Amino acid sequence: MFEIAPSLLSADFTRLADEIEIVKAGGARILHVDVMDGHFVPNITIGVPVVRSIRKSTDLTIDAHLMIAEPGRWATEFVEAGADMVSVHVEADPHLQRTLTGIRDAGAKAGIAINPGTPIEALTETVPYADFVLLMSVNPGFGGQKFVPTMLDKLRRLKQLITSRELDVRIEIDGGIDDTNIGDIVEAGAEIIVAGSAVFGKGNAASAIKGLYEKGAVWV
Ligand code: DX5
Ligand code: ZN
Repeated sequence: MFEIAPSLLSADFTRLADEIEIVKAGGARILHVDVMDGHFVPNITIGVPVVRSIRKSTDLTIDAHLMIAEPGRWATEFVEAGADMVSVHVEADPHLQRTLTGIRDAGAKAGIAINPGTPIEALTETVPYADFVLLMSVNPGFGGQKFVPTMLDKLRRLKQLITSRELDVRIEIDGGIDDTNIGDIVEAGAEIIVAGSAVFGKGNAASAIKGLYEKGAVWV
């Protein structure tokens, strides 16, 4: 079983409520919201107020991906704004265990995001405090980038790490995923699959999601 989580980064920001209805019609249950601060990543997107507005307009699960410096200062504000899942980059937080625990205590699922260049060993101590790992398959900052090919093997090793330690931790993967690689990604163990340009760049976002579900399902 897997879920497609459309990334609103590639949606039309002037029509967010409509875009959300369209992806819901396509079968999405999780909305991936990319928060960027111009420090941790070279781009600035949206923040707490927009998450609060999205919360008012939908009952879908809101998955806030924080690509920000000092995430420990902001993570629980996103939960209070209505995020159901909040992920924090391992590269950005020297007090990750505290931040994850804070997210859980605030009532959301806590995730650790990890960049392509960071070894999975960086998760060793903190993964038991997470509900999910967000494996980046591009260097974060922009939609529409190419999947970093070696991330498929990293995904398999992450799955192995979680299985061998019998942890109750889901794997989410984000970046460069489309109908050409989703089958392999599902087969390698990803359970939540973020897709931005493959959903919103194709004209009809609802049928793009249905297409991704079909392509992924072929292999499971
Ligand atoms: C990249 C973001 C992704 C991005 C995915 O920094 O974290 O969520 O929107 O977009 P695609 O699917 O186009 O790579
Ligand atoms: Zn993301």
